[in-house]
Amino acid sequence: MSADDTARGAEDYESLPYISMPYAQTQPARLAAIATLHGMAPPAVETASVLELGCASGGNLIPLAARFPRARFVGFDLGRKHVEDGARRIRDLALTNIEIGQADIGELRLAEKFDYIICHGVFSWTPRAVQDAVFRICREALSHTGVALVSFNVLPGWRMRSAVRDLCLRHTAAETAPSRRVAMARALLNDIAALSNAGEPFGLLLRNEAQRVAHRPASYIMGEFMSAENTAFYFSDFVEQAGRFGLAYLTDADLDAAVPETLSAPFQERIAAHAGADMLAREQYADYFTGRPFRSALLVKAETPRSAFDSERLGLLQLSGELKRIANDPEQALEDARGRAIRGKGPVIMQALSRLAAAHPATLSFAELTGETEGASAREICEALGMVLRVGQIGASSVRLRVGRYDVARPRAWELARQEAASGQPFVTSLAHVPVLVKPIMAWMLRRLDGSMDRVGLTAALTDALRRGEVRVRETEQEGGGKVETIAAGYLDRALRHLAAKALLTEP
Ligand SMILES: C[S@@+](CC[C@H](N)C(=O)[O-])C[C@H]1O[C@@H](n2cnc3c(N)ncnc32)[C@H](O)[C@@H]1O
Repeated sequence: MSADDTARGAEDYESLPYISMPYAQTQPARLAAIATLHGMAPPAVETASVLELGCASGGNLIPLAARFPRARFVGFDLGRKHVEDGARRIRDLALTNIEIGQADIGELRLAEKFDYIICHGVFSWTPRAVQDAVFRICREALSHTGVALVSFNVLPGWRMRSAVRDLCLRHTAAETAPSRRVAMARALLNDIAALSNAGEPFGLLLRNEAQRVAHRPASYIMGEFMSAENTAFYFSDFVEQAGRFGLAYLTDADLDAAVPETLSAPFQERIAAHAGADMLAREQYADYFTGRPFRSALLVKAETPRSAFDSERLGLLQLSGELKRIANDPEQALEDARGRAIRGKGPVIMQALSRLAAAHPATLSFAELTGETEGASAREICEALGMVLRVGQIGASSVRLRVGRYDVARPRAWELARQEAASGQPFVTSLAHVPVLVKPIMAWMLRRLDGSMDRVGLTAALTDALRRGEVRVRETEQEGGGKVETIAAGYLDRALRHLAAKALLTEP
């Protein structure tokens, strides 16, 4: 890639609005939990130092800084506008534990050490020299037991998407304005998706991709399909390249995307037959079998002591699960947020998972989860829960999360979410570091949830706002929609339940 291409890439990022968001899988509490499960003793997240390379305007880093005031956060990005936007937001929030600076990763030299380094959505989209610099920085700046996350596009799975990239690049080659190029690319994909033969692999691929990107922002389409640089890697080549910089692969951060079928016995048996006993070779073969297009690799210093996944270390962690009972199920099975059933695990495990369901979105320690269990050893429970964790049906964190209930006298949303709601952005960040979409009326409500108003006051304020047309709710638009006070009280109750379930309320 030439210097001109680098400049053009930077301009694309500058000229298309980029929505900088939190990514739950990158949060240090998650990285620390995974490291703990691999025999490490990672630094405490509450007082950690965290570096993000290519942090855009800090959508991932700023909520972490707000949540962990004793930890320190540093971000760098090439984009001037991103950095200015981030700095403004940091000032508005009066955060003193975070800095975002403009820098080219390729030129960056850091004297400070960091416990967690995040480089998400950057590596594949930069030239080789910057990729090497990412590894160099991880090696030089990672603390002894620190963990780095580097995400990248993966071969052979990404090869399918490269067909879409080829089409987008060729079709828009004569156009220079990024927003026009994205519009042209979307229109072409939609046409091909609508008219190609869905019974053929090509038609199916294009349909799936057109559907997948339909609601993605323009900056995603530009970055994934039309940026000058987009290199996908075989897992083993990535690991080898990292190894040359004294870094070792720990595991993947994204348990949800870690393709659950790879854990089944027949899968493991065939992978072992092809790849042998080497765990890295097995991961490579798993990519051949699944066609996974993306990875979020966790890297550590090569000399850092670590082990294979050890479910017995679950006892050191906090667990969470968005689970609910399946209605009328004779076995009283549970299902996860994606509708996947959990059954046949035995009464002890099902009881532990029911406790997790009742506590959601708060976390529970292993002891809180299992209580006084009889009939199963701690080891058996760990093994069973470890499997549920590895298929992404429950989550693990190194940090305890306590959240507010919906039915307290004076409900309070956490401060960052209130500020985000006031800023007019379309989502707010939960205490679990997840973006939650909010409609204008929900944003209106969030702004008032500072703990100073009780339900009577909130209902009265909402009634007034509905009457004045400042906010709207579906019922008031329906004829004979009932008394406005009743509608306001009903909405308030639903809104508070929703905000509590999404980890947006704090304890009094
Ligand atoms: C796709 S965005 C990802 C941003 C963020 N990490 C995220 O996941 O939302 C890529 C970011 O990397 C930045 N970037 C690209 N090349 C860079 C470089 N050489 N040095 C610093 N930042 C760079 C871009 O400006 C952009 O903000």
